[in-house]
Amino acid sequence: MSYHIGVISGDGIGPEVVAEAKKVLNKVADKYGHEFEYEDILMGGCSIDATGEPLTDAAIAQAMASDAVLMGSIGGNTQTSPWYQLPADKRPEAGLLKLRKALNLFANMRPAFLYNELREACPLRDSVIGDGFDMVIMRELTGGLYFGERSTEEVDGVLMATDTLTYSEPEIRRIAIKAFEIARKRCKKVTSVDKANVLDSSRLWRGMVEEVAADYPDVSYEHMLVDNCAMQLVRNPGQFDVILTENMFGDILSDEASMVTGSLGMLASASMNDTKFGLYEPSGGSAPDIAGKGIANPIATILSAALMLRFSFDLDEEALAVEKAVQKFLEDGYRTIDIMPRDSKDAANVKQVGTKEAGDLICERI
Ligand code: IPM
Ligand code: MN
Repeated sequence: MSYHIGVISGDGIGPEVVAEAKKVLNKVADKYGHEFEYEDILMGGCSIDATGEPLTDAAIAQAMASDAVLMGSIGGNTQTSPWYQLPADKRPEAGLLKLRKALNLFANMRPAFLYNELREACPLRDSVIGDGFDMVIMRELTGGLYFGERSTEEVDGVLMATDTLTYSEPEIRRIAIKAFEIARKRCKKVTSVDKANVLDSSRLWRGMVEEVAADYPDVSYEHMLVDNCAMQLVRNPGQFDVILTENMFGDILSDEASMVTGSLGMLASASMNDTKFGLYEPSGGSAPDIAGKGIANPIATILSAALMLRFSFDLDEEALAVEKAVQKFLEDGYRTIDIMPRDSKDAANVKQVGTKEAGDLICERI
């Protein structure tokens, strides 16, 4: 089969990690007889430099015409990059938010699990890790604080800034359905995370989750307050299967969940709507501090490409081959710098490799 993939390399380490994911996809194409065509799409800081806008209408049209989009990362150092002198709606991140909205990518799936090989990179103590953990965060992606009305105004000589958090019943229902559907294929447990002791939007969230849950009697569910969830993620991460939550809470909790797996560089992500189209990107950022050094971990992007094979193209066997190759890479003792064991005596048993070498070694294992 032939597939048309939009490629947003973006900024920072984006181009480096995307190059490795393409290498892996090309290996899959060779081995399984597919054809992947790539079309570069500008978004983020590189788009600002080229066009003055973080995402042009032409770029949105390119993304819409693709079967799926593979993305690296966007943005730069918010303290030093000139991009952050621009008004908020002209900055790199605005491009990503606009794309999510334009393509109605309301469901963001972020799997986080601990490879046995990475126990030594995990910041948690062995007794907390226990038998390891394997969870999926289902984050609502096109509502909440990210897309509510906002303003900054001067009132009586004092600047006041306002952001609003709004959710509607249908917005909550559709993401809840996605979470319960995914849970059904996993360990059949949903933890819905909110702040219902304070926020109206969270109380509506709870009510809707209850309604959706009634249609999934085979899936157990619980509600958890977000502050408690942040704590439980480091106290006993093994208790979670599917975490369902709103946009901002999901942003924060998914970084936390990824760190307990060893590194943000391991966490893949899929942003989906109700069609087969999806945007696949590592959950981590553009890491401007290490951009161009050839040391970034490409695994999150490679695993995101695997999710693309599975969810957008229904190529389950191919997706599994990529995931197994990553597993084998780790089993064979290779590590990028971010997933090196914390203890130097454990570090002696593994071999540190750079971005390109990691991509090559993973390709060899497909
Ligand atoms: C993420 C990122 C984005 C977000 C930024 C870049 C706007 O942190 O995908 O988690 O906050 O959603
Ligand atoms: Mn984030």
